[in-house]
Parts: sequence; C-alpha cells; structure tokens
Amino acid sequence: MPKLLVTGSSGLIGSEVCVHFAALGWQVIGADNNSRATFFGPTGDTRWNQRRLQEQLGEAFTHIEIDIRDRENIIRMMEEVKPDAIVHTAAQPSHDRAAAIPFDDFDTNAVGTLNLLEAVRRSCPESTFVHLSTNKVYGDKPNSIPLRELETRWDYADSSYDRGIPESFSVDQSKHSLFGASKLAADIMVQEYGRYFGIPTCCLRGGCLTGPNHSGVELHGFLSYLVKCNIEGRLYKVYGYKGKQVRDNIHSHDVARFIEAFLAAPRVAEVYNLGGGRDNSCSIWEAFKIAESFTGKPQQYEYVDENRIGDHICYISDLTKIKKHYPEWDLSVSLNETIDQIVRSWETRSRSE
Ligand SMILES: NC(=O)c1ccc[n+]([C@@H]2O[C@H](COP(=O)([O-])OP(=O)(O)OC[C@H]3O[C@@H](n4cnc5c(N)ncnc54)[C@H](O)[C@@H]3O)[C@@H](O)[C@H]2O)c1
Repeated sequence: MPKLLVTGSSGLIGSEVCVHFAALGWQVIGADNNSRATFFGPTGDTRWNQRRLQEQLGEAFTHIEIDIRDRENIIRMMEEVKPDAIVHTAAQPSHDRAAAIPFDDFDTNAVGTLNLLEAVRRSCPESTFVHLSTNKVYGDKPNSIPLRELETRWDYADSSYDRGIPESFSVDQSKHSLFGASKLAADIMVQEYGRYFGIPTCCLRGGCLTGPNHSGVELHGFLSYLVKCNIEGRLYKVYGYKGKQVRDNIHSHDVARFIEAFLAAPRVAEVYNLGGGRDNSCSIWEAFKIAESFTGKPQQYEYVDENRIGDHICYISDLTKIKKHYPEWDLSVSLNETIDQIVRSWETRSRSE
C-alpha cells in the first residue's frame, strides 16, 4: 500500500487530499498541529476536521501532531514514515495576517518548507513532493495590467491576458505582502530541490482554493467566509475596488484530482498556476448574488473605501500549461455547485455546534 504524507491535513486542501487518496487505497499520514487556531483564533480551529478524518477514514488515516517548524522532529518523522509522496499544504495562509506575525509566518511558510524538503532529500529523495504555493508569488504586479470596468467586475483590457496570468509572469519587483514573500521563498526552494537534487517536485500556485471544509475567517477563505456571513446575517466588509475585484475559484476536489494526476506522472521542478480559470471566476458582487440565490437571504455588507494592501484587482489563472501537461485533468466542479456545497456545509456545521 503506497504511503502519502500530507502536511496541514486538517485544513481545507490537506483534508480533501487525505480523503481522496484514502479512497484510492493509499495509507495516509496527516501532519497538523492546529496552528490555524493560533493564527486566526477559535473560528479558525481545524480540530473538527481532524476528527472528521479520523472517524471517516479509520485505519487508512493516521494523525501526527507535529509542527513543521520543528526541524529535528520533522527529519525524524520523515525517516520513520518514508512516504512515497508528500503533499505539503501546511502554511500561515493569510497575507493580511502575516504583517502582525512576521516570524511565525516566515518560520512556517519558508523555513517549514525547507525542513520538509531537506528531510525528504535525506530519507526518501525518490518521493514526489507537491507544494501548495500561491498566486501571491506574483505580488501585486497583475494590477499593472490595463483593466476595463464592467457592470459587476473588472476584466483585463489587454487581450494577451484573456486566458489569465501564465506561469511566466514576473515574480519580481512588486509588493507581495510578507506572506507572498515567505511563500515565494518556499516556491523557489521547492523548485531548487527539484532542479539541483533531481527530486520530483511541483509548485501549485493557487488562485482561490475553496470548498465545503474550509474553516473560513475574515482574513482567509474568501468564499467560505462570505457564505458564512450570509447565513448568519453577519456584516461582510468589502475592501475597495468597488467590490468588483475578481477571484478565480477552484474546488478542493479538483485540486486533489490534479495532485493524483501529477503523482501518476511526476515531473521535476514544475510550476503550475492552479485556479478556477475564467469559467469559475467571480467578483465579490457576483459571489453575493450566487450565495443569495442558494440561501434566500440578502447579503449584509459594508463597503470600506480602501483596498487591502497589495490585493489583486483581477486575478484569473491561465490553465493552459497545466492542461497541456495533464490533458486528462480539467475542472469538474462549477462555481455555482461549489457555493451550493459551502452553503450546505455551513448549515450543517452550525446545526451541530
Ligand atoms: N485557500 C486558498 O484560497 C489558497 C490560495 C492559494 C494558496 N493556498 C495555499 O494552499 C495551502 C493550503 O491552504 P488551505 O486553504 O488548505 O489552508 P488551511 O489554513 O485551511 O490549512 C492549513 C493547515 O496547516 C496547518 N498548519 C499551519 N501551520 C502549521 C505548522 N507549523 N505545523 C503543522 N501544521 C500547520 C493548519 O493548522 C491548517 O490545518 C497553503 O499553503 C496556502 O498558502 C491557499
């Protein structure tokens, strides 16, 4: 039975990957320490998701309580587990939060990733290493693309970006946020362990990764938090850009499906943009309308006339490269279906609280 190590296993992407690979017959080892609750407070707590995995997956899943910043323990664990593949999703994931906790952010995102890579090089260099990176590695440079204003959203005015932002886009000389900078350090390091040591590695530069199992909070998990506010009648703050800022949203199931395709045919030092593409993109206003159509409740919001620092005005992932390398993979969950699932998940979770 092949062994998969998933870091950040109690989070949105980690938990989806655990369920997906357990169903494919893998022995799954999940590493998490609920740091999300430390970063964001009790509403970011992911223990409920850890319990869900333990109950749902039974013997196919083992939880390890470990901090990826703890170098010695990470090296020891990798030596003991010797996984066939590693999916690294553990992170401090919020660009706004990073400025308040710069050491925790860098130690988790950059140093934690290095700890894992070096542990792999020492114990299992043949194993494939998939890293969840972010579109924030491009900093706010996408905002320099000329835009046109439509009724409910911004769009690129330069037709060379009709398909979105490609992997060749500059990562240099722009404002990243401390989060974007620590994730870029990790992204480059993952590529380097691929190119320099020949380890099969891949960086997935995520757009908005979403799904029903996100512990969405104001500072991270846009759709999850927006829907939660709608259901609970809570005020959602829209920060600048007239609420027309565009995100491309991919369901965590489609992220897990891509990782399956990559593990089946790994490559070395690859980089892919991975988001919902144009089809699954929406502005905040458009997301309100879709959420309202499922809940029947009007979204309560407040407009703040100042954008978040370095926030993208319009970000759409160009999926050309990923689809060219893995033509059997494509998006399978629409934006509407995703929001519907998030609505139902929050309704169930609020009933069981
Ligand atoms: N969700 C998004 O919209 C999005 C977008 C782009 C990139 N990403 C990236 O995808 C990855 C997964 O994101 P997510 O939305 O699932 O995040 P998440 O916060 O839901 O999950 C991350 C998990 O990692 C755990 N963790 C954090 N620090 C840890 C540490 N030091 N040791 C052990 N565990 C630790 C947390 O407790 C949490 O359960 C992250 O690397 C994130 O930067 C996410």
